[in-house]
Amino acid sequence: MRPSTACCAFLPALLLAQSVIAATPDQWRSRSIYQLLTDRFAPSDNSSPTCDTTTRKYCGGTYKGITNHLDYIQNMGFDAVWISPIVENVDNETAYGEAYHGYWTQDINKLNTHFGSQDDLNELSSALHSRGMYLMVDIVVNHFVSVPPNDSDNIQALDYGLIKPFSSESDYHPYCEITDYENQTAVEQCWLGDKKLPLADLDTENLDIVKTMNDWIKGLVKSYNVDGLRIDTVKHVRRHFWPAFAESAGVFTIGEVLSDNTTYTAAYTEVIDSVLDYPTYFPLTEAFKSPEGNLSAVVETTGRIQKTFKNGAFLTGSFLENHDQPRFQSVTQDQALVRNAITWLFVKDGIPILYYGQEQGYTGASDPNNREALWPTAFDTKNPLVGHVKSLNAARKTAMLANSNYTSTPMSFIPQLDKATLVISKPPLVGLLTNVGNSSKAKTTWTIPSSNALFKGGESVVNILNCETTTADADGGLSVQVDAGMPQVLLPVSALGKNGTLCGTGKSGSGGSSTGMQTRISWSVIGGLLVLGLVKALAGFT
Ligand SMILES: *[C@@H]1O[C@H](CO)[C@@H](O)[C@H](O)[C@H]1NC(C)=O
Ligand SMILES: *[C@@H]1O[C@H](CO)[C@@H](O)[C@H](O)[C@H]1NC(C)=O
Ligand SMILES: *[C@@H]1O[C@H](CO)[C@@H](O)[C@H](O)[C@H]1NC(C)=O
Ligand SMILES: *[C@@H]1O[C@H](CO)[C@@H](O)[C@H](O)[C@H]1NC(C)=O
Ligand SMILES: *[C@@H]1O[C@H](CO)[C@@H](O)[C@H](O)[C@H]1NC(C)=O
Ligand SMILES: *[C@@H]1O[C@H](CO)[C@@H](O)[C@H](O)[C@H]1NC(C)=O
Ligand SMILES: *[C@@H]1O[C@H](CO)[C@@H](O)[C@H](O)[C@H]1NC(C)=O
Ligand SMILES: *[C@@H]1O[C@H](CO)[C@@H](O)[C@H](O)[C@H]1NC(C)=O
Repeated sequence: MRPSTACCAFLPALLLAQSVIAATPDQWRSRSIYQLLTDRFAPSDNSSPTCDTTTRKYCGGTYKGITNHLDYIQNMGFDAVWISPIVENVDNETAYGEAYHGYWTQDINKLNTHFGSQDDLNELSSALHSRGMYLMVDIVVNHFVSVPPNDSDNIQALDYGLIKPFSSESDYHPYCEITDYENQTAVEQCWLGDKKLPLADLDTENLDIVKTMNDWIKGLVKSYNVDGLRIDTVKHVRRHFWPAFAESAGVFTIGEVLSDNTTYTAAYTEVIDSVLDYPTYFPLTEAFKSPEGNLSAVVETTGRIQKTFKNGAFLTGSFLENHDQPRFQSVTQDQALVRNAITWLFVKDGIPILYYGQEQGYTGASDPNNREALWPTAFDTKNPLVGHVKSLNAARKTAMLANSNYTSTPMSFIPQLDKATLVISKPPLVGLLTNVGNSSKAKTTWTIPSSNALFKGGESVVNILNCETTTADADGGLSVQVDAGMPQVLLPVSALGKNGTLCGTGKSGSGGSSTGMQTRISWSVIGGLLVLGLVKALAGFT
């Protein structure tokens, strides 16, 4: 509402990003994260090495490659980048290929040189910070890897001496397989992986080991000016290991707790800052994979999360894809369903996370097919999904500028008669979703009663996804119709700011057709960044 205040709401975050002080959970609330696998994002030069995902080998992506393509990420509106693990991994070819993904730690105190040097990583970190963006690093505590001498059953023959700094068998829990996932002791103390590639399970009950890990993470965060950590396999380490570790890290922590059980997952929000939103991931993908999907299950899960997670849904990391799950377009290529599912991430409570390649319409199914190289697309910004994501980030940021409490205003659902629709209200933003799909013959109608008081009587309302406007009725109610099942993201014109705004040249429309998906750059967001650049220069920060 007040552009001058709105501009400067960004300021503290930027100044902190510039200094050594790491980012806090509250600073992460407003962020939007681009997740990438360093090996698969971009090589250092402009070469285009072939990358056959099925051979599970290094393809040549580097830190320099990321640094060189930050415009691509930032222009979509992301202000944080989550990179895959950075520490030295097993360098042998294993039964499951090479450690290009970074999850097979061999030495926590060295970097994986496939991705570049320490200077290259520092350069990436500084480049992000000078753009006001955050660096999130992926880390693994639960397990280390030493490659067995052959593929047969030979856990006994593991050479622990190759692992640093925990080089003896007694640094690990005795070998056992996790056979019963209901047995939490087994989940925590037995080993992931299999006999061809056992993941040696660190003895995180041993207090010397705890101290070493806590010191290590503190050093890592400091060395590379890390703003946040994504923690792998959190549920496989005893819960009470995490608070001291997170405190030692001193930055925002978001954990992978792979579970569809909200109650089970909620317990982890008490020991680290936040979790990836796996409990919603499952009903979300089910809901939007076909017109038969169940949208109520998404609503129900959201309600449970808002009630039981320590910070409600505000700090959860919302995602539709990642390196462990099949890409959504391996399930459906109905672009109406795809766009609705992506839209969900940006109109709800929490921190949206987009997995690299999703914006290019990648279709890889399970690991290793979902880890395609991005460079064959030549970082094409013309892909319609790139525009879609850009509009969504801009809509979310605009909503934050208009409502300084946006990131602590809980979303709610406005009940609809049509079970194939969802109306998500998070003032001043309204998300209109449907899973009828692109071949639906009937029109889809969303209804927002005036009793919700979202709009003023007769107010113009803009669909940010195509910049078409519609008008609320005299009482402030609104009914919107589309065909072809496309989503809409509405903002009242009054929330767009006075000039130089998102959809500034928005054409009038019936509020209906969603065919022209062209989008316009959010000058208010870019303007905000320019102003900050100026303030920063004046204040002598470089
Ligand atoms: C694994 O790699 C290391 C270092 O390159 C080498 O010393 C070792 O012999 C290799 N082990 C096997 C089983 O190939
Ligand atoms: C595999 O390793 C086991 C245990 O060290 C050893 O007994 C066996 O001979 C090895 N097999 C091959 C084919 O190298
Ligand atoms: C749970 O798993 C642990 C570790 O494998 C095992 O010692 C224990 O007997 C199991 N408990 C039950 C109830 O099965
Ligand atoms: C979900 O997790 C809770 C807490 O761990 C457990 O009590 C409950 O049985 C689980 N529910 C299901 C359906 O597995
Ligand atoms: C949809 O999900 C809701 C909430 O989980 C559930 O109560 C309902 O039975 C589901 N409907 C169908 C058709 O599966
Ligand atoms: C519509 O969805 C079908 C799959 O349901 C897909 O084959 C087709 O390409 C889609 N068309 C558009 C324009 O999205
Ligand atoms: C934002 O929330 C705080 C605390 O909940 C409240 O005191 C303040 O009035 C709210 N501001 C606006 C503009 O709604
Ligand atoms: C914004 O509005 C002010 C006052 O009406 C005007 O001076 C300024 O040029 C406008 N800026 C843009 C970018 O349109």
